[in-house]
Amino acid sequence: MADLRREINEHNVRYYVYDEPSVSDADYDALMRELQALEAEHPALLRPDSPTQRVGAAPLAEFGSVRHAVPMLSLGNAFESDEVQAFDKRVADTLRGAGLLGADARVDYFCELKLDGLAISLRYENGELVQAATRGDGQEGEDVTANIRTIRAIPLRLQGVPPRVLEVRGEVLMNRADFERLNQAQAARGEKIFVNPRNAAAGSLRQLDPRITAQRPLRFFAYGWGEIRGVQGSDRAQSDMFAAVTADDAALPRDTHGSMLQWLAGFGLPVNVKYNRQARGATGLLDFYQHVGRIRPDLPYDIDGVVYKVDALAAQKVLGFVARAPRFAVAHKFPAEEATTQLLDIEVQVGRTGAITPVARLAPVFVGGVTVTNATLHNEDEIRRKDVRVGDTVIVRRAGDVIPEVVGPVLEKRARDLPLFVMPTACPVCGSAIEKLEDEAIARCTGGLFCAAQRKQTLLHAAGRKALDIEGLGEKLVDQLVDSGRIKSLADIYSLNVDELAVLDRMGRKSAENLVQAIDRARTPTLGRLLFALGIRHVGETTARDTARHFGSIAAILDADEDALLAVHDVGPVVAGSIRRFFAEPHNRQIVAQLREQGVEPVAQAEPQGTSLAGKTFVLTGTLPTWSRDDATRHILAAGGKVSGSVSKKTAYVVAGEEAGSKLAKARELGVTVLDEDALKALLGL
Ligand code: IVH
Repeated sequence: MADLRREINEHNVRYYVYDEPSVSDADYDALMRELQALEAEHPALLRPDSPTQRVGAAPLAEFGSVRHAVPMLSLGNAFESDEVQAFDKRVADTLRGAGLLGADARVDYFCELKLDGLAISLRYENGELVQAATRGDGQEGEDVTANIRTIRAIPLRLQGVPPRVLEVRGEVLMNRADFERLNQAQAARGEKIFVNPRNAAAGSLRQLDPRITAQRPLRFFAYGWGEIRGVQGSDRAQSDMFAAVTADDAALPRDTHGSMLQWLAGFGLPVNVKYNRQARGATGLLDFYQHVGRIRPDLPYDIDGVVYKVDALAAQKVLGFVARAPRFAVAHKFPAEEATTQLLDIEVQVGRTGAITPVARLAPVFVGGVTVTNATLHNEDEIRRKDVRVGDTVIVRRAGDVIPEVVGPVLEKRARDLPLFVMPTACPVCGSAIEKLEDEAIARCTGGLFCAAQRKQTLLHAAGRKALDIEGLGEKLVDQLVDSGRIKSLADIYSLNVDELAVLDRMGRKSAENLVQAIDRARTPTLGRLLFALGIRHVGETTARDTARHFGSIAAILDADEDALLAVHDVGPVVAGSIRRFFAEPHNRQIVAQLREQGVEPVAQAEPQGTSLAGKTFVLTGTLPTWSRDDATRHILAAGGKVSGSVSKKTAYVVAGEEAGSKLAKARELGVTVLDEDALKALLGL
């Protein structure tokens, strides 16, 4: 039974802390069942710290309150690099004054992620988890022990020889993927939807029924400690120089923050070893900030910044505290990804395929580093599900380069009854009926290319970088050309001349000339690009290219029947049907004919250079110095290669940039050739 307990605990840590499970779910369940069976057979040997005991105790009437033996503090914030430099200077000056830092030396820091969850204090006595409390007001928090016991990343019993009393401080959080799954399940059951992972984590932990908490995928990372007493055996530091570092009388067994965390990890406590780093001086701190900013979108959980802590505990002690925050640490925040603002109106936008997207008009709000005035509301069902109404105070989210979205209303601020949003029944641009098919979430304008909005979007799509790549043919220009009736179809683009363009708004002779040249170049696109430019539903860049390669000419595609289309790699009935229907429309065939009349002659697909790359699979990982992932993918595809997301024995090359992680390790393990950006370019003959 002890072996089983240990093994299951190890699997919990691998799964919930390091995201690297080493057994299948089925094997894990089998171990649990075996332990449960033994416990049923030998009830006297059932222990409260057994992993089977995490299922959740009976519900509570209310949470008790807990006075923290050592207060739980907060952190000062920095937003700009000069504030970080000022922090480092203050620290360095104080430490020099105290004789703890040489005149030219720089301060050593320990850098961590600022996890966006909620702070928790765990109290272990003689190695056993006896109490867990929220931060509360810093002095007194709520007793959430029964709930915390259900979190599998948190050991119920510490390994090794822990001190008599050990208070561990850290953050409870939820991974983004787990949050999405939870919300889907909640929606399916008609239960509360959480606005973000932090709310979901807080809501799950502040549940009076621990059996509910047990079903919520919570995680935990330790980043500090509170009371420590009775450090035992060899863990006790020889020197007594740190005897007075903590608020109580314990001697800490290590002399830096980093080594203390290592010491905690040694007891089986989850520590964020993957991202914690040491850094020297303000430049080191700012490098860490940059680095984390780059990997932030790929992290499994939300963070709202990074935390810098002076590493040496003796130096921390000298620096001390102001009010309720330490002078030895600071939180360097990222621009908030969420903010609240007023929802002024909901308008609808018409997309290329007629899809009607409700768009929120917002009181301007600074979020994710930019001022946002519009945000997508996706579709009518989403608006209903989120219950957002014009007049609401809403939470707006803009993460990375993702388009801003309205997360949900702040219901407490809805003073009076507000009317529900109703989808218009006629297209606001062309007046055609809006229809919504039973099985589709999206409503569509039925106007087709009669609708100016659809026409504009179709033209912008065709002019796009992945299609005909007509630089300079942007939104403002397309608006003018369509509104004046000068351009009715794709083919009309090719009859534009310098004189008429030069007199348009925001144009001059030079830009008109450049545009006409760009249009001229677009008379010889590859067949794949031309096909993609036509904007056939379900025909993306790759499908267009594969279809073009397969048929070799537009004439052959025009006349291909369903069977012929199905012969194309990766084309199924939906795509084949869509292509057939598109070319069955007389006006679409007419556009193709007009294009030919305008001198558009697609060229055969550029065959992959040195056909050796044909069919070879590439995996991209990390950040390349000059190419984005999109760039690299485009070039590899253009050369006949394939791009995949995971490394296997079949992978021909792994292209690794900065911050390459597990994929690079896997490549090395399997002996797959690893390339950097330069080597990739050389391989592609660029
Ligand atoms: S240290 C004395 N480290 O941020 C310093 N806090 O703004 C105590 N947080 O209440 C906190 N990640 O909930 C620290 N790596 C980290 C953190 C972190 C997230 C939270 C924590 C705290 C708040 C302070």
